[in-house]
Amino acid sequence: MGDLYKLTIFRYNPELKETYTSKYEVEVTESHWTLLDVFRYIKSNLDDTLTFRYSCGQGICGSCAVTVNGKSTLACETQMKFLDSFDLVVEPLRGFPVIRDLVVDHSVLDEKVRSVMPWLICKKDPESDKERIQSIEDRAKLDGLYECIVCGACVAACPTFWKNKTFLGPQALLYACRFMLDSRDEGKNERFEVLADKDGIYGCHTIFNCMEVCPKELNPGKAILELRKMFMNLE
Ligand code: SF4
Ligand code: FES
Repeated sequence: MGDLYKLTIFRYNPELKETYTSKYEVEVTESHWTLLDVFRYIKSNLDDTLTFRYSCGQGICGSCAVTVNGKSTLACETQMKFLDSFDLVVEPLRGFPVIRDLVVDHSVLDEKVRSVMPWLICKKDPESDKERIQSIEDRAKLDGLYECIVCGACVAACPTFWKNKTFLGPQALLYACRFMLDSRDEGKNERFEVLADKDGIYGCHTIFNCMEVCPKELNPGKAILELRKMFMNLE
């Protein structure tokens, strides 16, 4: 005998433009099962029309984020045995256009990330003709920033993004911080032309939902405060 989970899953049929919910009961007999395993079980055994997205199945690609009992999370990293309820309401990520059922359109994330120029901007020639050297200490400053998998969980949990879709959002701002704190980067002025207004670093109300939900335990809110400090000290 395993644990019986009752799932209410949001559904959207784009052909009929119809929104509804489906209810499923799944007995989880394997202690290692994740929410993604439950989705796959439903699709294989109960309802092959249920649509969800995943790729790596191990917390790397960022494609499987959904909302469970109101909280954004990665389906592939959500272990059933650690959930605090057997009744689960599963919805798509909040604030994004729904394509079908649990699959949302992430393209807004890509546009926002592109707008902060997520690459090194280097103006001087490198000291070595092979590479731009970075010290171990400077490299360590990027810990807690470079690990983002662009899952969108933080953006979906951000009340500012819900109200203002032109806000760059926690994920793009974290990405900006990752490059602007890089000792090899010389693009602060260019990036602050994009970042230093109410749709950028001053749009955040420091609610820190982003930190609460990030599956990689990153802190986009802290990165935004770091960017504000950097902007104040800009020469
Ligand atoms: S900061 Fe965390 S929650 Fe936000 S997109 Fe990156 S990995 Fe996902
Ligand atoms: S399937 Fe890749 S992060 Fe979940």
